[in-house]
Amino acid sequence: MTVLFDGFQLGELALPNRVVMAPMTRVRAAAGGLATPSMATYYAQRATAGLIVSEGVQPSLVGQSNPGTPGLYTDEQIASWRPVTAAVHTNGGRIFAQLMHGGRVSHPDTTGFQPVGPSAVPAVGDVFTPNGPRPAPMPRALATEEVAEHVESYARAARGAVEAGFDGVELHGANGYLISQFLSSNANLRTDRYGGSVANRIRFAVEAVSATVEAVGAARTGIRLSPGGTFWGVEESGIPQLYAALLAELARLDLAYIHLEGTTDEEVLVGLRRAWPGTLIMNPSLPMGPKQVERADADHWLGLGAELISFGRAFISNPDLVERLRLGLPIAPVDDAAYYQGGDEGYLTFPTYQHTVPETRLP
Ligand SMILES: Cc1cc2nc3c(=O)[nH]c(=O)nc-3n(C[C@H](O)[C@H](O)[C@H](O)COP(=O)(O)O)c2cc1C
Repeated sequence: MTVLFDGFQLGELALPNRVVMAPMTRVRAAAGGLATPSMATYYAQRATAGLIVSEGVQPSLVGQSNPGTPGLYTDEQIASWRPVTAAVHTNGGRIFAQLMHGGRVSHPDTTGFQPVGPSAVPAVGDVFTPNGPRPAPMPRALATEEVAEHVESYARAARGAVEAGFDGVELHGANGYLISQFLSSNANLRTDRYGGSVANRIRFAVEAVSATVEAVGAARTGIRLSPGGTFWGVEESGIPQLYAALLAELARLDLAYIHLEGTTDEEVLVGLRRAWPGTLIMNPSLPMGPKQVERADADHWLGLGAELISFGRAFISNPDLVERLRLGLPIAPVDDAAYYQGGDEGYLTFPTYQHTVPETRLP
């Protein structure tokens, strides 16, 4: 039986355990979308993870979803990540960058641009802006000939990521952002080759992944997906068929992994596990869901055939999560006020477990 603390060979990377740190936006980048020394410390503190997946990183300015998130599309941004990846490697870890294009989940107050999406359908809910939460604006539908530029943005950012010392990239194909908008049946109302049929709705995802594979190699490319997820108002018709078709196309590419969220019935997810010939990272939870991933969920999914398990919130408050899981130590609760508050407080201030020596009594 596979155990969470067994090693795993992920492409060329020898992971010492099967615990993955899930991507988490923490909005602590410096002006210009630059990574900072605090970010280097934060990720280095968590380097005992088998693999770290970074917070969402925008591949272009128009792809930026939230204020305060880092990018990988300028030389300065690429240079700013080098100390981060070096700190993780120095501490014995491995790190992929998550490439996140927000599509319609963005705002002109954040980027200076009207957001773009598959169709002129706004997201549901308020988006973050430098002036506080604002209703999601109307996106501009991409013209057919513009789509390639956004496909290419993932590949370009992936090249930048490798130059910056990342071990690979994960395309954010989940949670209602651009790739997920194309997969959707209510955010994507297109009548060209990127909309309508399942084969057309998966096309943007397949092209973005293929371009990235061409840029940095399949062993350095993964994708995150949230089958059936309804974030920011996306809906998907025919979930099992949609994802079966997508995985069939992606399976030809020999990717490092797919990273699934527990956003639909276990039966459907197990079906996708069976259909996927490569490595599966499972996150058996929901973003901001009521219950964070625990050891029992991890063991359950290792039993169902996932090779790797990602933990999100537990990694925020437990930099030594792997050791705590291994030794059965208490898991410190997360403080959700710390997610996006900025600064080092609630970011670098969660301690590792403090072992104490039992008091010895002298005779
Ligand atoms: C503060 C915070 C930020 C997040 N940002 C991202 C992100 O940038 N990209 C992403 O794919 N998921 C993001 N997520 C979702 C997590 O990766 C993960 O799927 C979710 O928290 C469920 O796992 P957990 O129960 O272990 O926390 C975020 C979650 C949290 C709590």
